[in-house]
Amino acid sequence: MKFPCRLDKFVSHLIESPRTKVRGGIKRGYAKVNGEVVSKFDVSISPSDEVLWKDQQLVYLGKRYFMLHKPKGYVCANSDEMHPTVFDLLDEPNLKDFHVAGRLDIDTTGLVLITNDGDWSHKITSPKHEKFKTYLVETRDPISDEAIQQLRDGVQLHGERELTRPAIVEKLASYQLRLSISEGKYHQVKRMLAAVENKVVELHREKIGSILLDEQLEEGQYRLLSENEILHY
Ligand code: URA
Repeated sequence: MKFPCRLDKFVSHLIESPRTKVRGGIKRGYAKVNGEVVSKFDVSISPSDEVLWKDQQLVYLGKRYFMLHKPKGYVCANSDEMHPTVFDLLDEPNLKDFHVAGRLDIDTTGLVLITNDGDWSHKITSPKHEKFKTYLVETRDPISDEAIQQLRDGVQLHGERELTRPAIVEKLASYQLRLSISEGKYHQVKRMLAAVENKVVELHREKIGSILLDEQLEEGQYRLLSENEILHY
């Protein structure tokens, strides 16, 4: 939410009710701003104003940042007709303005960042800022040394003009590698493995920039980011 903000919008956001309904309530005298009953919908509200609705104070919670351990089967979208979304896993008020900073596929597990701070998520996800995202990858076929070298050098993805940027690749086992990439193209890891004639069978994100998935979080659990994680991603 951006301030200054109209009263009807502010209340509608905080009580999660449609604006038309809120306007009816304002007419009935439900809204008080700094101690005065207000009957105009478009009164301008700033964060320092005290707003009461039916005598209950409405507090805007400001910018919030969560890390979630995403399980399989959930989509990284605000709503979806077919599948549950990562937002179904968050038991938090006023999530209307929130978005996922760097989506994962429905069958990928691991670290997902969710916030209402668009500037922050842009810095995390924009390829311009070159934040590495680290994935644990399990493959269908053994990973050859040649494939590892190709992934490090950059591969040609189907439908893209340029090679992928150099990746950091660590072979963990015949069928497992840790791959860090600084771009976020659609299905990038799966397409990179396809480009070296292999196939991803399991994919898990461990890290974004310097933010590591908290190992205390079970699949489906989440927590607020620490001050340090927010500032030094
Ligand atoms: N690359 C993919 O192919 N899928 C993801 O979910 C994330 C990165």
